[in-house]
Parts: sequence; structure tokens; C-alpha cells
Amino acid sequence: MVDDERANMDEGENYTVADLGLADAGERRVDWARARMPVLARLKAEAEKTKPLDGMIVAGCLHVTKETAVLIETIEAAGAKVSWSGCNPLSTQDDVAAWLAREGYSIYAWHGQSREDFYYCIDRTIEANPTLTLDDGADLIVRVHGEKSDYADGVIGGTEETTTGVHRLRAMGAAGDLRYPVIAVNDAITKWDFDNIYGTGQSTLDGIIRATSVLIAGKTFVIAGYGHCGSGLAMRAKGMGANVIITEVDPLPALRAIMDGFQVMKMDDAASLGDIFCTATGMADVIVNRHFNSMKDGAIVCNTGHYDCEINIEDLEAASSSVRTIRTDNEEFTMADGRSIFLLARGRLVNLAAAEGHPSEVMDMSFANQYLALCRLAKEGKSLDPIVHDITLEQDQGLATTKLATMGFEIDTLTAEQIAYHSDYTAGT
Ligand SMILES: NC(=O)c1ccc[n+]([C@@H]2O[C@H](COP(=O)([O-])OP(=O)(O)OC[C@H]3O[C@@H](n4cnc5c(N)ncnc54)[C@H](O)[C@@H]3O)[C@@H](O)[C@H]2O)c1
Repeated sequence: MVDDERANMDEGENYTVADLGLADAGERRVDWARARMPVLARLKAEAEKTKPLDGMIVAGCLHVTKETAVLIETIEAAGAKVSWSGCNPLSTQDDVAAWLAREGYSIYAWHGQSREDFYYCIDRTIEANPTLTLDDGADLIVRVHGEKSDYADGVIGGTEETTTGVHRLRAMGAAGDLRYPVIAVNDAITKWDFDNIYGTGQSTLDGIIRATSVLIAGKTFVIAGYGHCGSGLAMRAKGMGANVIITEVDPLPALRAIMDGFQVMKMDDAASLGDIFCTATGMADVIVNRHFNSMKDGAIVCNTGHYDCEINIEDLEAASSSVRTIRTDNEEFTMADGRSIFLLARGRLVNLAAAEGHPSEVMDMSFANQYLALCRLAKEGKSLDPIVHDITLEQDQGLATTKLATMGFEIDTLTAEQIAYHSDYTAGT
């Protein structure tokens, strides 16, 4: 059954997008990203000659942004066909989706999807008979192992872009439920230590500012989780003059946050102090009813973790007497006692829903890792065990070297004497 919303979309043989008329705007946006992704450009130039993905069909489920469009054209330049959907109901850039459809790429994505349409789009991509799957959050691969399991035998391997997806897939692998090998792209140093820290740090603030236009300076900014994303966000919020409070459950990042100069406390204690709250944990129910009950009038609450379960929106709805939309991605919940709490982007990742996601320069490395992981799976996937595999150090160092070169930086190399010193245990005082 076609629901009302989908009936209004532009549909073709291999696409469903919001409005094909947005394609020119999408083209300009993709041009901007491409010019800032030189590592991927080098890989694409090479791929056009060597065609390492020849004959592959890649089903992708990852935010449809201008950077993703550059990844898609790189994958097709390497000889594969893609079939793509977004990995979040609110993150698709409709102009980019329109451009992809106009250029002939198979794309099923639009901004503001129902849950049913979200899975409708994923299922269309699976029906393309993929030999490789590419995930951001593991929704596609879980579908290939569940409702669409008839397609699993045809898949050689998969990749996973984000922390939460890698957690899900490691759990599947440990349970013996994975039917093909998966490469944890997220865990590459050139991804996790850059995309999640600098990308999420900057773009989360971008999303909060676009949805609210509030002054960050002088605000008490509570961040749940001091992992990669949370620490990146804390660094940027501090740089803009916020007083940052961290909440954690792991003593190691908690200690690191203290030594980085932040206050650390329980969410129960931070709830009454914060002006702005952002969750970055990958965990459910981090902000719940009792926290909403003690928040200040005017508190702003948002999330930058992968799923919208970090803030318990049902609790907020139950505790409020009315809701009104202040502006796009910003809703005011009026509590029974008259206080207002502002929820951004319905608790979905605020940097992609309310802004544009990570800047192209950092996605250059993340997506170069994605592309190289697909090439490795096309070549070796059939001989890999059906568990989660890491990116090799060789790939990480190669990518970092290329990135440095494209940025115009040179670094020293060890001399023969220095290499010998390294392995000489007799050299001491
Ligand atoms: N918004 C984006 O564009 C974007 C980009 C990358 C990753 N992510 C997502 O962000 C989330 C975090 O990713 P990461 O790479 O920072 O993970 P990480 O493992 O590096 O950090 C998560 C931190 O949250 C802490 N934590 C867990 N439960 C908590 C709780 N109840 N209260 C406080 N702290 C808690 C953990 O101890 C850990 O230190 C994941 O869901 C990931 O998929 C989002």
C-alpha cells in the first residue's frame, strides 16, 4: 500500500525522491563537496583505470548528503552499480537525492520519512540483489538477515560506518548470527579519531545554532558521553565560551574529561544546571522523566548519537501539557508547571537533521575508508570469516599519508639509525 506521503514523491524505475526539480541545486552542492574531498578524487582517478569493483552491486544505507554523493560516484567509477537509501528519516538532503536520480544512480530517499517508508526504501535497495552492503547503523544488514534473508546468500561482505552499527554487528557476530564478513569502517583511526571528533564536534554545534540561533558563550552546556563525539563537541563548545559539564558511565573517559578541564557529574545533578543538553552516547534513556522534571525553564535538549532513543521523548510528551513548533527542528514543550523545554530535531542526530552533517574535508577520509573496505571485500570477502573485521593499520597509515599530501604537509621519516635504535633493547642510560 502506498501511503499518502510516498504518493507525492517523484518516482522512476530506480528512484523515489522528493522533487527532481531540485537536481540543479543538488549538483552545485555536490560540486562543492567534491572539490573538498581530494583523497577520494585520487582513488576515483585510479578506479577508473583499474575497476576494482567490476560487476559488484552495492546496496548502501547511509545519510544522503553531498559527501555521500561523491562516495557513490566513486563506487560506480570503480565498476559497481549502487542502490541507495538514507539511514535516518530526517537526514536526506533532497536536492542531492534529486541530482543522484537525475544522473541515473539508483536512490530511494527523502527528508522526513515515516518508519514504514524508511524500510520501504531499504527494501528497494535490497531487491537490487547486492553483492556488497554498506551500512550506517546496521539497519540494512539486519534487514538482510531478517525480513529479506533470501538475499543474504548473494552478499560477499558488508561495511559499517558508525559506532552504534559496529556495536550491533559485533553482537550479531558473537552470537554466530552474521552470515557474511563485515568491515568496521568506523573503527579506523582515520575515521573514528577524525570524523567523530572533529566532524561531530563542529556539525553538532552547527545544528544547534541553526535550530535555535542561541549564543553559546556563557551557557552551561551538558554533554552526555565523553567518547569520540562527546569529547569533540566539548572541545568546540568550550572554545565558544560555554561552561561544559560532562556526564559519563565509564571511569576512564570521565577521568579524561576532568583532566581536560571539564566538570563531571551525574545527569541527575547536571539536569538542573544545564542551559543546553546534548547526548552523544549510543545508549538509550540517557535523559528521562526525572531529568525533564528538574530542568530550568528554557532548557534546550538534543542528541547527536545515532538513534533517537537517547532522549526519552515519550517521557517529555507525557510530562508536557502542550507542544508547538517554534521553527524548523525546534519544538517547545510546555510542562505542567509552566516551564518550557525545547527539543531539537525530535531527538534525532541534530547535526544531520538540523544542519548538513560533517564537513566534506573530514568525510573525505571516512569515505575513502568505506571505498577501500568495499574493494577489499570484493577481492577477499569470500575467504573472510563471517565476523566483524578491522581496517588494517596499513590502510589507515596510507590514507593519513595521502591526506597529509593533499593538504600540503610533509613529515619526517625515521633514519636507518633511528629504526635500529627502536629495536635495540641494550641502549639505555
Ligand atoms: N551525529 C553524527 O554524525 C555521528 C557521527 C559519528 C557517530 N555518531 C554516533 O554517536 C554515538 C557515540 O559515538 P562515539 O564514537 O562517540 O562512541 P564512543 O564509544 O567513543 O563514546 C560513547 C561514550 O558514551 C558513554 N556512555 C554510554 N552510556 C552512557 C550514559 N548512559 N551516560 C553517559 N555516558 C554514557 C560511554 O562510556 C562512552 O565514553 C554513537 O551512537 C555513534 O553511532 C554520530
